[in-house]
Amino acid sequence: MRLFFAVGFSEAEKNVISENVASLKKMCVRGNFTRRENLHITLAFLGEVDRASLKSVIEAAARVDFSPFDIAVGGAGKFGNIVWLGVGGDEIKPLAAHLRASLDKSGIYYDRKPFSPHLTLCREAEFQPGCDAESFNAAVRSFDKRVVSFDLMESTRVDGRLVYKKLYTRKF
Ligand code: 2AM
Repeated sequence: MRLFFAVGFSEAEKNVISENVASLKKMCVRGNFTRRENLHITLAFLGEVDRASLKSVIEAAARVDFSPFDIAVGGAGKFGNIVWLGVGGDEIKPLAAHLRASLDKSGIYYDRKPFSPHLTLCREAEFQPGCDAESFNAAVRSFDKRVVSFDLMESTRVDGRLVYKKLYTRKF
């Protein structure tokens, strides 16, 4: 099973993000836009994990002791042809570090790339002539969010579609 840990969004927050996705769509010729139900901020990407290890993955998440905190979502940017919204605030990096330290303690593998908090809106984005990440950034609606939990997610394909399934929630 393909697993990752992420911070999810409420329906109200997804409404704001969807408005941003709609304005990005207008500026693009094409792109693989993140579906509303798949919107998230990844904290750690585990990749393929065998089912027998699921219990210890959940135990590692359950050990993470954290208090609710706020993040600011907004400010668009690009990594290659991936368009994202930035995630600001002092606590999300320590949360990812706590989670990753707990995974380390249990010898659970995760992608070691440094944590760069972001919310992917589109992959393979191709902007219209005259538009770019900067023009999208100027149109972005930002919002604040209180983080009170994070989720263990399974990434699956259903009829060729990327579907994320929530397996466990660690509430602070
Ligand atoms: P992305 O949004 O920047 O693509 C599920 O694949 C989630 O895990 C995505 O949010 C993806 O980030 C993130 N992720 C982090 N490292 C990954 C990796 N090595 N392979 C696939 N997804 C990764």
